[in-house]
Amino acid sequence: MKPLLQLDNLSVVFGQDKHQVYAVNQVSLHIKQGETLGLVGESGSGKSSLGRAILRLIDLRSGRIEFNGTDLAELNARQMRPLRRQMQMIFQDPSLNPRQRAGQMLAEVLNVHGLHTGVARAKRIAELLIRVGLRADHASRFPHEFSGGQKQRLGIARALAVEPRFIVADEPLSALDVSIQAQIVNLLIGLKNDLDLTLLFISHDLDVVEYLCDRVAVMYLGRIMEIAPTATLFTNPAHPYTQALLAAAPIPDPKQIAPQSKLYGELPSPLNLPSGCVFRTRCPRAQASCALQVPPLQNVSHGDQHSVACLFPNIP
Ligand SMILES: Nc1ncnc2c1ncn2[C@@H]1O[C@H](COP(=O)(O)OP(=O)(O)OP(=O)(O)O)[C@@H](O)[C@H]1O
Ligand SMILES: [Mg+2]
Repeated sequence: MKPLLQLDNLSVVFGQDKHQVYAVNQVSLHIKQGETLGLVGESGSGKSSLGRAILRLIDLRSGRIEFNGTDLAELNARQMRPLRRQMQMIFQDPSLNPRQRAGQMLAEVLNVHGLHTGVARAKRIAELLIRVGLRADHASRFPHEFSGGQKQRLGIARALAVEPRFIVADEPLSALDVSIQAQIVNLLIGLKNDLDLTLLFISHDLDVVEYLCDRVAVMYLGRIMEIAPTATLFTNPAHPYTQALLAAAPIPDPKQIAPQSKLYGELPSPLNLPSGCVFRTRCPRAQASCALQVPPLQNVSHGDQHSVACLFPNIP
């Protein structure tokens, strides 16, 4: 099937001159219609920046974002507006206005996009609340009257209100209790199947990624190191960085009290990246040649679905 989203050499840079950080560095990947792509990697690897760049919420330095045949990188704000409806984001914290009732919040979203009026709008709001596992009468409640999980359901309802085709979910579970996380994961799976949604799912939780995603991309210091179907990535990781991440589960996250890691050495400063392969300073398999060129993301073994950016990948 033709990809819904195709990124080509996408770069996002923060800061100027000597203080430049390549948060996203020459990223190329695609996501097929109806697919869920997981995006994992240590804190600071550029996952959120990539998600935000795709939705044109932050500026691009260079590259193409082809969404359903249109290059978003070429569009100005006005031209982007009709596409905004098709692409939504779900965040760790849904940031609900404390003074706005749930129903008002959804009505406002529908209003902005000129969707439904009068009775049809009220019906749509009830439908959205029920679709995310809330009740129609929850429309009259204020955010403080909802639990953490219910707030996240509302955040999801807000994203769904405009009938998007593509959703970036940026660590939507991180703020929730483990028991609630499972409910939200199952909600996402149901929505994905029923609404034929395409998802970019950013997470530190490898178990959830393995459960939810069709393919997984591994990011490190702005670059995609490996991308593969989920089962392949978890059983036959080819990149030394992926292997270290899987051995170190959960992924080192500063928000965790005691990260366990098989990744030795310090994360290099994003202001002063190693030459060649950015992982070579922490890589157990690094050779002199790894300093000389950035390894291209290339297909390995059978099929064209498994790609790795390493000169010495582990190929079974
Ligand atoms: N607004 C910004 N201004 C300057 N630098 C930024 C900004 N946002 C991100 N960065 C830098 O870009 C790099 C990538 O950050 P990003 O937040 O995308 O990583 P991440 O993978 O989402 O991390 P986390 O897992 O902690 O959410 C980091 O070096 C970060 O410090
Ligand atoms: Mg992030």
